[in-house]
Amino acid sequence: MKYYPAVAGFFLKKMNKFNFKGRDIIDINDFSKEELLFILKMAKKFDPEYVKSDRSNYTIAQGKIAGLLFFEQSTRTEQSFRSAAQKIGMGIIGFNDPQSTSIHKGESFPDTIRIMDSYADCLIIRHPKGGAAKDAAEVAAIPVINAGDGPNQHPTQTILDLYTIQKVAGKLEGITVALMGDLKYGRTVHALSIALSHFNVKQIFISHPSLAMPQEYLNILKTRNRKYEVWEKLSMDLEGVDFLYQTRVQKERFANLNEYKKIKDLFILDKSFKKYLDRGVKLMHPLPRVNEIDPELDAHPNAIYFQQARNGLYIREALLALVLGRL
Ligand code: NCD
Repeated sequence: MKYYPAVAGFFLKKMNKFNFKGRDIIDINDFSKEELLFILKMAKKFDPEYVKSDRSNYTIAQGKIAGLLFFEQSTRTEQSFRSAAQKIGMGIIGFNDPQSTSIHKGESFPDTIRIMDSYADCLIIRHPKGGAAKDAAEVAAIPVINAGDGPNQHPTQTILDLYTIQKVAGKLEGITVALMGDLKYGRTVHALSIALSHFNVKQIFISHPSLAMPQEYLNILKTRNRKYEVWEKLSMDLEGVDFLYQTRVQKERFANLNEYKKIKDLFILDKSFKKYLDRGVKLMHPLPRVNEIDPELDAHPNAIYFQQARNGLYIREALLALVLGRL
């Protein structure tokens, strides 16, 4: 075939720039700023606030199967992936109780992955062990999406968090985001901090010293020359804070439950937090919450955690369509 450099260049550029087909979504570090912004743009195609009719989305991935492997409990992540997959025409197989599978008989993790790999077109995995999604991706030929691996990462949550911030603030540059609660074991805050570090965002880390943000994440901010502060308590003055991202103390990750009990109630937002919401601070939370946000705050327009959870649907529709090469 005759070589047409201009045409080839165009296709190469198009493909190289954002080629998500067949790609694993394991670690937020694997995505450039431009790729993250591209995913956010794609998610708008599925968001009724931007698109009046989403009928054309129903057949995007018809004939494809999502394999869900939930080795750890979930409500939002699992159900929104199920919903997202079906909204773009996919079928679903999988489990959320490993004891109901042959794992109960002693089947190994790689064997389970291999089997699911041959029945599905992409795998969505949540596991209590950090690194499990990467291990699965090494065995599987089809794309693997990390739906949370132990205290490590939760990249799809991060993308929906970014989407929510961008939608509410209208931008991702020049804002201040405070992350609070369990910054040691909370995988959502780890990946969010990395993603925000691509942007001119000041980050404030608020936690008990024993649940502080691990140094490796602070180092990323230093390397990228981003401003950050570490607070040991919630200052009475949240001046300049645009978003406060509250998190649950991750009880299931504590080796010693007495340690958990000592610190579990130190960062609770009660009704008195309303005055900050009135001043314009937007309150986020990946959910589930235990007692760290008083439900009396829910009705406030700046309490945006339920809207945040809903946005998970749109970014998961976009991600599934992208890794299947259908967007
Ligand atoms: C988070 C998780 O599983 O890491 N939840 C979620 O996916 N929305 C947060 C948590 O469990 O505290």
